[in-house]
Amino acid sequence: MTARSVKKSNIDHVRVFDTTLRDGEQTPGVTVTPEQKVQVAIRLDELGVDAIEAGFPIVSQGEMQAIRAIARQGLKAEVCGLARAVESDIDAAIKCDLKYVHTFIATSDIHMKYKLKMTPQQVLDRAVKAVEYCKNHGLQVEFSAEDATRSDRAFLIKVFKAVTEAGADRLDIPDTVGYRTPDYMAQIVKEVKDATGLPISVHCHNDFGLAVANAIAGINAGAACAHVTINGLGERAGNASLEEFVMALQCLYDKKHNIKTQLIYETSKFVSNTMGIIVQPNKAIIGENAFGHESGIHTHGIINNPLTYEPIAPELVGRKRWLQAGKHAGAHGIRAMLEEFGIKPTEEQLREIVEKQKNIADKGRAITTSELLSISGEVMNNTKFEEKFKLYDFHIVTGMNLIPTAVVRLNADGKDFIASEIGVGPVDAALKAIQKISGEMANIKIRDYMLDSITGGSDALAEVTVKVEDKDGNVVSASKAGEDIVVASVQAMMDAINKVLLRKVLHSKI
Ligand code: KIV
Ligand code: ZN
Repeated sequence: MTARSVKKSNIDHVRVFDTTLRDGEQTPGVTVTPEQKVQVAIRLDELGVDAIEAGFPIVSQGEMQAIRAIARQGLKAEVCGLARAVESDIDAAIKCDLKYVHTFIATSDIHMKYKLKMTPQQVLDRAVKAVEYCKNHGLQVEFSAEDATRSDRAFLIKVFKAVTEAGADRLDIPDTVGYRTPDYMAQIVKEVKDATGLPISVHCHNDFGLAVANAIAGINAGAACAHVTINGLGERAGNASLEEFVMALQCLYDKKHNIKTQLIYETSKFVSNTMGIIVQPNKAIIGENAFGHESGIHTHGIINNPLTYEPIAPELVGRKRWLQAGKHAGAHGIRAMLEEFGIKPTEEQLREIVEKQKNIADKGRAITTSELLSISGEVMNNTKFEEKFKLYDFHIVTGMNLIPTAVVRLNADGKDFIASEIGVGPVDAALKAIQKISGEMANIKIRDYMLDSITGGSDALAEVTVKVEDKDGNVVSASKAGEDIVVASVQAMMDAINKVLLRKVLHSKI
């Protein structure tokens, strides 16, 4: 048997094997450039994952280039690549300078018969040969029996024992089609661990929404590691989400890991933007609403003690709590929202503000922060609410073979400014030009930009919502509807910036 090469550090820590750049990139419709893959790998390393599955080397030249670049980054995380149990795939991994290969072959009857068209003996021989080939090339090997959880158990154990004999360093149990339950995962992990004595990983898919529960059950049954992805990306319904897995382990099971939880949210955002897959708002830990509160009863509780309606402090995962105006909101919540901006209405004014915003919400519209502040300005009739940024005009040049360019003219706190910027499209160019002028006065970045079509057709009425964040992490949202999305975007952006500035005026910072 060849020497095993498993890193022994942090033995009491659950090992987090991130496969965002491999299984995650297999999310239908997602492809990223080699440069983007490197950027994501750097973020994952900063986050503290123990292993990064950088990709599937054999699939393309670009993939090889990306994996090689990641392998050469000198990251703290171990970097590995996926290879079918065939020499050409393993050779491709070696060409990427990888020292760690995740090799796999399916062991379930359905995969062997209909996909591989191989007998069980041929599969077993192929698995052993692949592991031996890796070991002869000095690689660390993690062996996965694809569709392990739907495989004949006796055959699965036979394969795992054979690859252990051949020198595999780690074994992975994939629940490839997310078909199993936590009880089943616990039981299979125990059996494979007892039969082989090797460190076990679990790789759980989310087809029945059980991926995280299954991964945790595997860990509690003695698995050392779980394969997870940022935002739960991955084939079909995705993989176990890193964020949910890590926070549940830490908060509900008191287990240790190496993840810097404060970086979870920004990593999730980065991956979402890079891979172009929006996170559902009600997703645990990282969804927009995970730390947002609207109902009067909840906000009242939260204001008195956040633990009433929050299981963990948002800061633990790099987030901030936010309150939402709307028809369920009560006076306590609206007062707290306004206080954030330094706005202190009288009881009478507060009642009127709450009433007015409920009337708008009753028409089926979400109330943005900007709208709530405008209502308050009207009710309180306070000159400080006057807008600091006034748009004179803007124009855009765009078209095929032209770089979209915007010129914006506006007045900021009594002074006239003009700025031009280029962008990936007309909206991007215009918003960048506005940001250029707003500069130091309102040092903001755009956190979200959403476009909804209200009516159909090419003359559709569209609603643009922008969420901007100042340097202290305060978020302001503003919406504008119109037939021209560039105009609506510029107006929403101006509105949001004005409200960021209002906060500073009322807190007398400018
Ligand atoms: O889901 C799966 O079975 C996989 C294997 C390649 C491990 O992703
Ligand atoms: Zn998978």
